[in-house]
Amino acid sequence: MSVGPPLHPRLSALRAPAFLEVTRRAAELRAAGRPVLSLAFGEPGFDPPAAARDAAVRLIQQGDVRYTSMDGLEPLRTAIAERIGARRRLPLGPENVVVCVGATQAISSAVRATVKSGDEVVVPAPYWPPYVDVVGLAGGRPVCPRGRPEHGFKLTAERLRRSLSARTRWLFLNSPNNPSGAVYSAAELSALAEVLRDFPWVGVISDEIYEDLAFQGWAPSLLDVAPDLADRTLIVGGMSKGFAMTGFRIGWAVGPKRLVRAVTWLQALSTFTPPAVGQAAALAALTACEQPAVAERARLRERCAVVVRRLLAGTALRITPPEGAFYLLCDARAYIDGARAGAPSDDTALALALLERAEVATMPGGAFGLDGYLRLAFGGPDAEVDEAVERLVAALAAMASRAYPRQTFASAPT
Ligand SMILES: Cc1ncc(COP(=O)(O)O)c(C=O)c1O
Repeated sequence: MSVGPPLHPRLSALRAPAFLEVTRRAAELRAAGRPVLSLAFGEPGFDPPAAARDAAVRLIQQGDVRYTSMDGLEPLRTAIAERIGARRRLPLGPENVVVCVGATQAISSAVRATVKSGDEVVVPAPYWPPYVDVVGLAGGRPVCPRGRPEHGFKLTAERLRRSLSARTRWLFLNSPNNPSGAVYSAAELSALAEVLRDFPWVGVISDEIYEDLAFQGWAPSLLDVAPDLADRTLIVGGMSKGFAMTGFRIGWAVGPKRLVRAVTWLQALSTFTPPAVGQAAALAALTACEQPAVAERARLRERCAVVVRRLLAGTALRITPPEGAFYLLCDARAYIDGARAGAPSDDTALALALLERAEVATMPGGAFGLDGYLRLAFGGPDAEVDEAVERLVAALAAMASRAYPRQTFASAPT
């Protein structure tokens, strides 16, 4: 008999993420002294701004490290409102902003504040895994239309219309996207907005956490093309990606006061206030830097081209080149075959095989709602990523691939 309270059935019902198996095995191999390289994690490969680090140290030295207000410090909320208001040409004030413990908390609080048992939430696949888990925990049902490679894995207006119902509460949009790196164009967003106008009860959580890492320097947002949807859209963002400030744990939700207040309330019940040190660092970074990661964007674009070229030349992986962030979504089905003895039977088995043979950790696509794929994070130090890619090429060459036609350079970035 187990001791203590059993887990909530909704928690027990969540699919144990397949990538945990990969990360656990990678840790075991490392502990055994094997030189495992990782293309698995979404950690930016550059440093947080000096202004942020200095501000954090200053605050600690002053000893001014206390609770803050539940929705975050006013000057920071004002800076966020001004930044997003200017970018999206929206009339925003600090009352439209709640500072959260990362975008993760903004998303989880927004869902828990609004989704009840039986509600549906449209989460286009491929997706960042916590979207579906947090909906499931709230008792909701994630509806996951699967993007096609020929559409850059993006949700089309027609698929959106077929996914919405009287029970839909939210649509998740994420551009630039993790894991595909896709960036929605203004025209694609306008087409989605057109559909949403027929479903006025549906809100939009627009996760724009990678906006500063769009290779072209700018990613359109739904509210650029459809400001009339502002009263039911929450823009989610944060300092983790464009400012490389993952450990400072600062994110935000920006939108209508009613929803912002609800997110604040939920947040107060789980973390009380966002961290003081992180907020001081975030305010300093936002004040010092209107356009972060400019050099990093150029580097990522170049690195992406190098990695895609190498993988296409040396393997039977198929790749839809990303337009932002630092992830490559690779169709690995040429190497997966449940019927062939010795061949990996799914993407988790393939990721585990690559871990054993190449000593490289990758993320199985099933974690993102896209079986048969691998996600490779290429934002790390050049030499490490190059070495990891060479190891993958060698290991995949040693695995018999099915007779898939090789993809050529034609669709790869130059
Ligand atoms: C799409 C997406 N949204 C949100 C987050 C969470 O970011 P934060 O560190 O602000 O919680 C991540 C982190 O990888 C992400 O990929």
